[in-house]
Amino acid sequence: MLLSGKKILLGITGGIAAYKICDLIRKYIKSGADVKVVLTPNALNFVTETTLKALTRNQVFIHQFEEFDWKPGHINLSDEADLFVIAPASANSIGKIANGICDNLLTSLVTAFNKPVILAPAMNSKMWQNKFVQKNIAKLANSGFFIIEPEEGELACGYEGQGRLADTEKIFKKTCEILQKQNFLKGKKIIVTAGGTKEPIDPVRFIGNRSSGKMGFAIADAAYKYGAKVCLITTIEVCKPYETIKIDTAQELLSVLTQKFPESDALIMSAAVADYRVKEICDNKIKKDKNEDEINIQLVKNPDILKEISKIKTSSQLVVGFCAETENLIENAVSKMENKNLDFIVANDVSQKEIGFESDYNIVTIIDRQKSDIQTTSKMLKTEIADLLLKRIFSP
Ligand code: CTP
Repeated sequence: MLLSGKKILLGITGGIAAYKICDLIRKYIKSGADVKVVLTPNALNFVTETTLKALTRNQVFIHQFEEFDWKPGHINLSDEADLFVIAPASANSIGKIANGICDNLLTSLVTAFNKPVILAPAMNSKMWQNKFVQKNIAKLANSGFFIIEPEEGELACGYEGQGRLADTEKIFKKTCEILQKQNFLKGKKIIVTAGGTKEPIDPVRFIGNRSSGKMGFAIADAAYKYGAKVCLITTIEVCKPYETIKIDTAQELLSVLTQKFPESDALIMSAAVADYRVKEICDNKIKKDKNEDEINIQLVKNPDILKEISKIKTSSQLVVGFCAETENLIENAVSKMENKNLDFIVANDVSQKEIGFESDYNIVTIIDRQKSDIQTTSKMLKTEIADLLLKRIFSP
């Protein structure tokens, strides 16, 4: 059976679409999953505990301070489940989850949950379009939640528009897709670097670059989704459901990697590292001198981080580099891969304006050490490239 052995935690919040969840539960049970339901107190206005108990053949959880084992309920239930599905997700619960509020069992559970979460919102179309609701949804999507958007149609409140709970078949299929792929990187420890380093000039200025970190974030999110233990090292403040370390400079990045890399299985180095740093950083803000039209800042070379890491790499570890070029893409990428002793290099042409830096899209060429299979993608979302890259580099 498709879901045998899988444990699903199903959260129901207060909305009329709650009645449709009985059908979703039947699909899960028929596919062999063990389903435990947690309700917000408001959800009880729409479905009964008796129905859900009968359908799941399990206890139904509602109250935050219910009698559990010695462990608090939200820890117990979140530890044992493989996936958390919240459907329907109301605007109210979405707002609480996006802001870390734990005022009932369901919101406490999701805050303690560090595995994949599917959110299927359902609400009035005006509520769905509300800019705060949209901001919360974007925040959750960027933090690795899987959002199944509501559909257009006739709503229970009499309106027409986007707000109906997605078809339960769609939620079911997404659940199967995630649970089936979930384990392909289980047990792997993967380090991903993202964003452009910042080399200080004085307390207010730095030398930076145009990297947005999007490619690295997509890789880290995908690795996490497939079950890896992820450590994301980045120059950009982010909130993720896995370990993140914030750095600014190339030297800080090297120091963190030197410490972290030996205990990892792979390093995917998508960060744009500054090749040079300022030789003498001023302690005070540099003032413009009325008599000088030009100033000179002396730069010194930064360490090549990948070269340094490759020196301590063992045969069981993978090191993947990225390569930004404006000309002779493949030739330069191959030479960087050999020079830095990499297992793979991912080359992208940064002269093409509609892809690469800051864009959600990219076109990349993945080159392996043996140069036996050089693969160039079409223009794809960075999230799609991340999936493809992980499958390629970790294929047996
Ligand atoms: N890189 C690194 N340390 C540096 C510079 C780059 O580890 N000091 C890494 C990048 O993170 C990337 C790869 O090396 O994975 C290639 O980076 P890129 O900027 O394309 O090339 P460089 O080696 O910096 O060479 P150049 O700037 O001359 O093209």
